[in-house]
Amino acid sequence: MSSALKKFLTLCQNRIELALDERLPDENILPFRLHQAMRYSTLDGGKRMRPMLTYSTGKALGIEPETLDGIACAIEFIHVYSLIHDDLPAMDDDDLRRGKATNHIAFDQATAILAGDALQTLAFDTLANDQSININPTQRLEIISSLTKASGSQGMVGGQAIDLASVDKKISLPELENMHIHKTGALIRASVNMAALTKPDLDPHLAKKLDHYAKCIGLSFQVKDDILDEESDTQTLGKTQGKDQNNNKPTYPALLGLAGAKQKAHELHQQAIESLNSFGDEAQLLRDLSLYIIQRTH
Ligand code: IPE
Ligand code: IPE
Ligand code: MG
Ligand code: MG
Ligand code: MG
Repeated sequence: MSSALKKFLTLCQNRIELALDERLPDENILPFRLHQAMRYSTLDGGKRMRPMLTYSTGKALGIEPETLDGIACAIEFIHVYSLIHDDLPAMDDDDLRRGKATNHIAFDQATAILAGDALQTLAFDTLANDQSININPTQRLEIISSLTKASGSQGMVGGQAIDLASVDKKISLPELENMHIHKTGALIRASVNMAALTKPDLDPHLAKKLDHYAKCIGLSFQVKDDILDEESDTQTLGKTQGKDQNNNKPTYPALLGLAGAKQKAHELHQQAIESLNSFGDEAQLLRDLSLYIIQRTH
């Protein structure tokens, strides 16, 4: 990882941790257990890649981080809700996440379902009302609309439905790509595009290039997640290694082999970099993040 990226990562991680804490309901507010469960899964964990992408896009476009806190939190709330539900027995049935017990193990299944539900609505409440987002009502609506599409049945949730329907099945490479683009790619794409949407005078050509960058890294992120599930270890991952094979999930390594999957991740990184050709040094963090996504160890 470049030293500039390392420095920025630490800054952003501290920033987002505080911003999330401030926006989550206090544990002393009723219903206590629900609020504890929401805070348990959201705070003190995770790489915060999506907020990082939001802030890095801001850096590329000259947008201050202070005006992106609400958006960065909203995307992380949706992500955490997706993880809580993804781990439920009815889905991937995992008991370890971010190095600790999954939400339904630490609390119970009903609480985990409700914590996910409440995090989802908190995300949209944040986009609708957060004072950090200093934009006109039309832009605000566009941003809300962008996150609804990215997280709903034609985005993340749709991808999760395809994932579950693909268990024990042999699917084609285009089908696998479609699944990954939806279940993981859509939210990553939104992390970049929502930041861009706060700049109404942004050149449409640059907006399109950024969107293409985000599409490439959204897919490479899940390709790498599949690779790590196969070749990393539980301790490093903070989640149980080998679950995809155990659950008979179609993955990139299953279809292309490990070497083929790594090659695919590398190609996507190259495409992502090319998409940023119209940008100068201001987009260096985005370039570094693309590389980090395919080189990360967890
Ligand atoms: C894991 O996402 C789930 C996927 C969409 C692949 P992350 O790898 O970003 O998980 P955290 O947030 O760092 O725990
Ligand atoms: C999850 O994909 C995508 C989500 C929308 C949460 P995975 O099921 O591969 O994520 P992990 O490996 O459990 O983090
Ligand atoms: Mg899953
Ligand atoms: Mg899973
Ligand atoms: Mg996985």
